[in-house]
Amino acid sequence: MALVKAFTQFVDPPSGSTSAEASPEAGGTPRAAKIETVNMGFFYGTHQALRDISLRINECAVTALIGPSGCGKSTYLRSLNRMNDIIEGTRVTGSVTLDGEDIYARDVDVVSLRKRVGMVFQKSTPFPKSIFDNVAFGPRIAGLTNRTELTEIVERSLQQAALWNEVKDRMRESAMALSGGQQQRLCIARALATSPEILLMDEPASALDPASTARIEDLIFELKQNYTIVIVTHNMQQAARISEVTAFFCQGRMVEVGQTKQLFTNPSQKETEDYITGRFG
Ligand SMILES: Nc1ncnc2c1ncn2[C@@H]1O[C@H](COP(=O)(O)OP(=O)(O)OP(=O)(O)O)[C@@H](O)[C@H]1O
Ligand SMILES: [Mg+2]
Repeated sequence: MALVKAFTQFVDPPSGSTSAEASPEAGGTPRAAKIETVNMGFFYGTHQALRDISLRINECAVTALIGPSGCGKSTYLRSLNRMNDIIEGTRVTGSVTLDGEDIYARDVDVVSLRKRVGMVFQKSTPFPKSIFDNVAFGPRIAGLTNRTELTEIVERSLQQAALWNEVKDRMRESAMALSGGQQQRLCIARALATSPEILLMDEPASALDPASTARIEDLIFELKQNYTIVIVTHNMQQAARISEVTAFFCQGRMVEVGQTKQLFTNPSQKETEDYITGRFG
């Protein structure tokens, strides 16, 4: 009951079929998974950081990943757009599919994959360039040179990231002159500029004050109409507020996944309950 009290106030009733799995009990047809990992494992050299992760990530929904520090959340997130490839000696086992296609297949173009699966890192990492050049970076890498088109994309992305009004007269200024919360929204705009289908967010609000955090959460709410979002957060109230599905990771395993409300109010595993009630982690 304590769990119910602690979390129901934060959770909106999920709309439609939002279960991590099919929800035949709700009469809904199972949604197609946008991303699916099956028996996925991950190694840094000989150290196995993830084992046996089977998780379906539904389209146009928010999936939250929670769990104690070092349990593998960032590793999992980075494996969804092959960002771990840049770390030498890493290896993935099992399967990771996007729209049913193996993203680790030999013929996959990793640049195109990362265009489809954008990422916002835990620490905002603007380039030491102007605000405009930061947002235009991805489209330029993709070969776009037309100034009018670039300007349109930059404005649209900044609008989507709820930053446009604050920076529209400062486009040539350095991004480093923005506040932390503005830099984080700039990084979101930069990720959106390549029109990804999926947005991976690694603790996007962990360094922000409550007002900036609320803006990011509002933004995620807006974005999920069109994007599939996977978010890592240490803030369980945040997970409860913004996600439909939550997966709890611990020591490289996925202990439990379910509808967010159910996981927070009636977890099936003792480990999950201990974590969300603050008994460990
Ligand atoms: N580049 C790396 N090289 C070797 N081991 C790594 C590397 N990055 C992470 N690890 C190890 O993999 C495990 C999972 O780390 P990861 O960063 O995925 O955890 P996390 O759940 O995101 O933690 P946190 O909540 O602190 O961000 C840890 O044991 C960590 O030490
Ligand atoms: Mg992490």
